[in-house]
Parts: sequence; structure tokens; C-alpha cells
Amino acid sequence: MQYPHYRPRRLRRTETLRDLVRETVLTTKDFIYPLYVKHGNQLKEEITSMPLVYRFSIDMLEPEILELKSLGIRAVLLFGIPDHKDPVGSESYDPHGAVQEAIAEIHRVDPDMIVITDVCMCEYTSHGHCGALDENNKVDNDASHELLIKEALSHVKAGADIIAPSDMMDGRVGALRKALDDAGYSDVPIMAYSAKFASAYYGPFREAAESTPQFGNRKGYQMDCGNANEALREVELDIQENADFVMVKPALAYLDILWRVKERFGFPTVTYNVSGEYTLIKGAAKEGWIDERAIVLENLLAMKRAGADLIITYHAKEAARWILEDTHKGVDHYCED
Ligand code: PBG
Ligand code: ZN
Repeated sequence: MQYPHYRPRRLRRTETLRDLVRETVLTTKDFIYPLYVKHGNQLKEEITSMPLVYRFSIDMLEPEILELKSLGIRAVLLFGIPDHKDPVGSESYDPHGAVQEAIAEIHRVDPDMIVITDVCMCEYTSHGHCGALDENNKVDNDASHELLIKEALSHVKAGADIIAPSDMMDGRVGALRKALDDAGYSDVPIMAYSAKFASAYYGPFREAAESTPQFGNRKGYQMDCGNANEALREVELDIQENADFVMVKPALAYLDILWRVKERFGFPTVTYNVSGEYTLIKGAAKEGWIDERAIVLENLLAMKRAGADLIITYHAKEAARWILEDTHKGVDHYCED
């Protein structure tokens, strides 16, 4: 295997050869598209720092779902924006909540669309934390389980196909699994936000979902960004608690974690290419400073190469369009320079 007899450049000579030997490719089925839903009429509100991402009222979902279907995107992740917030986030388990109504509407429009629901309290609580508070205003881990269970059961009763707890309370995957099984929903999978880091990259999401904590921060439950071994422990716990998917979040600054999780456990692995990662690219693209298409496809390919089986991304629709264009032409354009 030594030069001059082995020459790696031999397989890089033409576009077609490069296409033939590329180890990783993206498909439109790799993506999960996040959707923000709320009550109201005829609402499609663009999020200032996230161009082309909207908060939809239920009556505006149909064209969006049909578009996703036509692009080959098979799954959405729902976030609800409530009308009213209170200390226990009671709108999260209201049978007429925005998420609950959106699930029914999406299944009406496309019965095959996989509807995943984010299960967390922060959009619904007046204090903006991901669980219940105790008398000292600290997030109470085990008391939070009860709220998350109510929310998750309400989602599956409304027809959710997969639930995705994003709160980072200890033991909540096991508690949710037991509650689902006891209620007769042993077929509903859990996609666990397993290694979810406390991150500045969630800033634009908190604007979109109106979920900024009213005091303190989330570092008491989300992971510290310096920790990799702890991330593996978190994933291992979720697998022991019978999660069906594990997740690493955010994506780009945590590709090392993603790689180690996939290598170690070989489990269905998801990464969340979060709001701030999207905003960075949209900002630079608007200034004309980068080739957006090339950069987005290179980033998404990197996530898949690092071990992601599924990528939750706000780029999903545009990326799917680019991938379908390429498929049509018979050439992939992932690695541009
Ligand atoms: C709720 C939740 C957050 C995200 C997904 N679920 C925000 C947070 O933890 O503050 C972030 C998604 C994004 O930034 O796109 N716990
Ligand atoms: Zn939360």
C-alpha cells in the first residue's frame, strides 16, 4: 500500500468516480423537520433570527405537511406554544392544546407522516424551566416526572407516533416507558434527548418557543459542555431505561460525542442540528459570505458520517430540495470547494 503503487488520487479523478466511492450520502429520509404550533387563525409568523422557520396555527399546517411529503421528508417534531403559562405547565397536557390538535391535523393531511412530540415543560411553565419547582424554586427531579408523564400520555392519546423527552431529568425515560406501557401504549417508541448539553446555541429557539427561563439557567439539568464520558453514561442510562432512540444535541460542536455514542452503543442515534447552528448559516448566507447550499450539505453529511441515523434540522426542506435536484441529475454535490 505504498506510493508510487498505491495512489489514493486514482479514485478522485472524475465526479462520477467520486460519486461511486463516496462512503456516506444523504437522503431525504435522514431528516426530521421541527414545527412550532400554536392556537389562532391564519398565523404563519416567521422567527426573526430563523428565516423561513415559522410558528403555525393549526389551520395553516396543511400546505406545509403536503410540501414535506412531496420532498420525501417522513417525520416532524412538534413544539407547542401555549396560550397561557402557569407554574405546572398545565396546557402541556390539555387535550385541546396546540400540539394535541396539530397531531390530529397532520395525520388527517398525511396519515403516514411520523409525528414526534417534544415532551418538556419549559414552553408551558410561567418560570420557563423544564420541570416542576420545589418550595425553594429548585427544579424538583422526581416531581417533574409526573408532569412529563401527563404531557406524554396526552400526546399519545392524541395520536403521537413517537415521544421525545427533552427535559433532562434523571430517570424520566424509565418513568415514561412504564407509564406508556401501563396505559396500553407499549408500541409507542421513546426518542430520548440523552446527551443534551446546556448550550448558547438554543438562543433562537427560546425566542421562537418563548421558553427562556425567567430566573437562573438550565445548567442544573442539562449537561456541562466539557463532559464526554458523562455523555456516554447518560446514553447508557437511557438505553437501560428502554429508550428506542438516543440523541446528541447540539450537533456540530458535539460531533465527537455523536461518534463515540454510535461507536460504543450502535443504537439508533439522532442528532439535533439546533436553532443557533441554523441562524449562523442563515446570517452569513444573507450577507453573501458563504455558499449556503454547499455549506449546509457538507455540515449535514458530517453529522451522518459521525454516526447520526437521523438528523433533526431546520435545513430539512431546503436540503431535501437540493438532494432531489442532484438525484434527478444523477450526480451528488456534497463536497464542493
Ligand atoms: C426544550 C427544548 C429546547 C430545544 C429543544 N427542546 C431548548 C432548551 O432546552 O432550552 C432546542 C432546540 C433548538 O435550539 O433548536 N427543552
Ligand atoms: Zn425544556
